[in-house]
Amino acid sequence: MYKSSYPKTFPENFLWGGATAANQIEGAWNIDGKSLSTAEVVRKSEDRHQMSMDDVTRESLKNALLDQTDQYYPKRRGIDFYHRYKEDIKLFAEMGFKVFRFSMAWSRIFPTGEDEKPNEAGLNFYDCVLSELEKYNIEPLVTLSHYEMPIALTEKYNGWSKRQTITAFNLFTGTVFKRFKGRVRYWLTFNEINTGTWGFHETGAIDGNLSKQDQLQIRYQCLHHQFVASAIATKQLREIDPKAKIGCMLARMQTYPSTPNPKDVRAAQLEDEKNLFFTDVQARGEYPEYMNRYLAENNVEIKMENDDQNIISKYTVDFVSFSYYMTTVTEADGKEQANGNMATGGRNPYLKESDWGWQIDPIGLRITLNAMWDRYRKPLFIVENGIGALDKLDKGRIHDSYRIDYLRQHIEQMKEAISDGVDLMGYTMWGPIDLISFSTSEMSKRYGFIYVDQDDSGKGTLDRIKKDSFYWFKKVIASNGEDLS
Ligand code: BG6
Repeated sequence: MYKSSYPKTFPENFLWGGATAANQIEGAWNIDGKSLSTAEVVRKSEDRHQMSMDDVTRESLKNALLDQTDQYYPKRRGIDFYHRYKEDIKLFAEMGFKVFRFSMAWSRIFPTGEDEKPNEAGLNFYDCVLSELEKYNIEPLVTLSHYEMPIALTEKYNGWSKRQTITAFNLFTGTVFKRFKGRVRYWLTFNEINTGTWGFHETGAIDGNLSKQDQLQIRYQCLHHQFVASAIATKQLREIDPKAKIGCMLARMQTYPSTPNPKDVRAAQLEDEKNLFFTDVQARGEYPEYMNRYLAENNVEIKMENDDQNIISKYTVDFVSFSYYMTTVTEADGKEQANGNMATGGRNPYLKESDWGWQIDPIGLRITLNAMWDRYRKPLFIVENGIGALDKLDKGRIHDSYRIDYLRQHIEQMKEAISDGVDLMGYTMWGPIDLISFSTSEMSKRYGFIYVDQDDSGKGTLDRIKKDSFYWFKKVIASNGEDLS
């Protein structure tokens, strides 16, 4: 429809806030009936920058189950949010958060995944968290599975590789939808579902001993089961709490061609399709043709049951959410690698990198927002964005101007995208409080507005300290994104 003007500010009800995950903040891994989750059996690598999240074998799992400490498993200790959630939420409220994204640990509520009754202590914890958020009018945005599942489901079904896990997941989702009906308006099913192509951390399936071909087969099969489980959860939510909304969540990584050579442009398009495939299924309701070709050419055959395609097409998501950290570059032949936690790609000579080698590309966020809006025409939600950095305590203060610069540049581009016509619901910056890194299990890779006094070995007072960015973000929210100075 033609209009003679365009939006120049963030919408009035824009959801500003921060995002976290249970296994990176809660701790309390072995109390109040909680069982171990898949995230809590991943051993921290000795090399501090080394990613270890998919290095789980049958042998390492056995050792992890025998080890009753958190020494090598920092995700077991998190930052003790379990006992300090009141203090932390108060700080979020002080910044003016409109929304707080967190995940409910499946293993806290269904310790074996198939328990006859949910664990009341687990449900009660989230009751308390929600009450605290309600006290400050902070909207909860809840992820149902953020890179974790009860370890019993890995032992019994090799994670998502068996259909029984669909039933277990929907037992969990139906339970929390009923319990928290009317209190949670926004839900997400699987965090960064596309990273299931990387293995264990997302699929819960141990497959390191398999050939590349068998890994491809098992991972796409796991992901198919997740598509079905996600669609069933959507159906449940519409029946139980029709006013609530549910979204999918993608680790979005726009791929640029390294040159205008059509071969490179096509290579970039294929990479992009492999990334968007997941949202195509969850938002449009079908396996796209390009993916049918890709899977067939790679000898992957998805086993489906009769009703799968039907349920996937009937229960698509209400909104599309994604994380945005970086973009990548591809060329048809050969690649120079840059880092990332779940994808690597070519280096882009026009971009700077973070301390961990992640390429920083604020304009890429505008490009991404426009492309996603064009493709799906569903409201978009940026549910992760931020920079991991080595913060230094300087006489009790943290002067993190690099974090402010990073966030400012991304928010400026969000505003441009809104002016371009994109329907953007909100922005939850990743890790508003320092937490355990997903990919490296380090504490010293810090994202927060709030510093947590804990080092990589778990030592520290756990005191919370406001960084310079804390005051800056408070101003951003108070001015609804107008004051970025
Ligand atoms: C996203 C994950 O991929 O990136 C988060 O959803 C994660 O769980 C975040 O923490 C940042 O990655 P990392 O490895 O720096 O913690």
